[in-house]
Amino acid sequence: RIVYVNGEWLPEAEAKVSVFDRGFLMGDAVYEVTTVMQGKLIDFEGHCRRLARSTAELGMANPHSDEEWLQLHRDIAAKNNLTDGGIYLQVTRGNPGDRDFAFAREGLAPTVVMFTQSKPGQAENPAAWAGWKVISVPEMRWHRRDIKTVQLLWPSLSKMAAKDAGVDDAWFVEDGFVTEGTSNNVYIVKNGKIITRNLSTDLLHGITRASVLRLAADLQMEVEERPFTIEEAQSADEAFSTSAGAFVTPVIEVDGKPVGTGKAGPIATRLREVYIEESI
Ligand code: PDD
Repeated sequence: RIVYVNGEWLPEAEAKVSVFDRGFLMGDAVYEVTTVMQGKLIDFEGHCRRLARSTAELGMANPHSDEEWLQLHRDIAAKNNLTDGGIYLQVTRGNPGDRDFAFAREGLAPTVVMFTQSKPGQAENPAAWAGWKVISVPEMRWHRRDIKTVQLLWPSLSKMAAKDAGVDDAWFVEDGFVTEGTSNNVYIVKNGKIITRNLSTDLLHGITRASVLRLAADLQMEVEERPFTIEEAQSADEAFSTSAGAFVTPVIEVDGKPVGTGKAGPIATRLREVYIEESI
C-alpha cells in the first residue's frame, strides 16, 4: 500500500513516525474511518465534522480544512486503486521530542497518518446479512467516549473475549444499561419501534447512526432514543449494530439467548438494504 504521513506518500514499509510521538506514548490521538463503496466515499462530511469536533475537544490542531481532507481521501483511494474498503486517518498531537505528561499548547505540529484497507463490498458480505452473536462485558472505558480517540485497549480486549466465547462482538454495559458495541452503536426493535441510546459523553456519536436514524424517519419507522438493558435486548423482536465498517448489521443473539426468531430481523435487514442502496 501507499500510505500518507505528514504530507508524503510512501510505500508502507518506508512510512515512519517518531517513538516520541504522543499518539504512540500517550494515546494522544484521534481517528476516523470512512468507508469506500464502489469507489464512493460514504458519509464523508459527517466523518470530517466529527474529526474537527474530536480535535477541538482535546485542544488539538486540526491540520486540514474539509476540502483538503476530501482531496487526501480521494488521492489515497486513487493511489491504492481502492474500490471497496475503508480509509483510516489518524491525527496525533505530535512529536514533542521527549516523553512528558505536559504538552505545549501551541507550536506542536500534529502528526497525520492515513492508509487504506481493502475489503469485499457490503452487499457481498454473507456474515453481515446473517447477523452477529454478541456477549455483554462491563463498560471499562474512560468517560469521554464521544471523542474518537485511539485509546482502544478495552474494545480490543472485549473483542478478544467475544472471539474466545465463539461470538462476533461484545456490548458494553454500564450501570445496568448498554452503552454501545466494541466499535459500533447498538439498537433493539420492540413492537416496530427502534430503541437506541440517546447521545451523551457515554458513547460515540456514530455517523452511520445519524444516517440510519434519518433513513428510519424517511421510512416512517418509529424511533425512541433512550438506554436499554441486556434483558430488554434479549426479549426484543430484533437488534442491530451500525458503524462505518459494519453499515447496519443485525444482532441475532445476546449472551446466549436468541433475539426474536434468532435470525436477521425485517427492520434491520430493510435498513441495511436501504443504506447500501442510498450509498451507491
Ligand atoms: N468504529 N461506537 C464506537 C465505539 C466506534 O468505535 C464506532 C466506529 C462507532 C460507529 O461510528 P461510525 O458509524 O461513525 O463509524 C460507534 C470504527 C468504524 C472503527 O473503530 O473502526
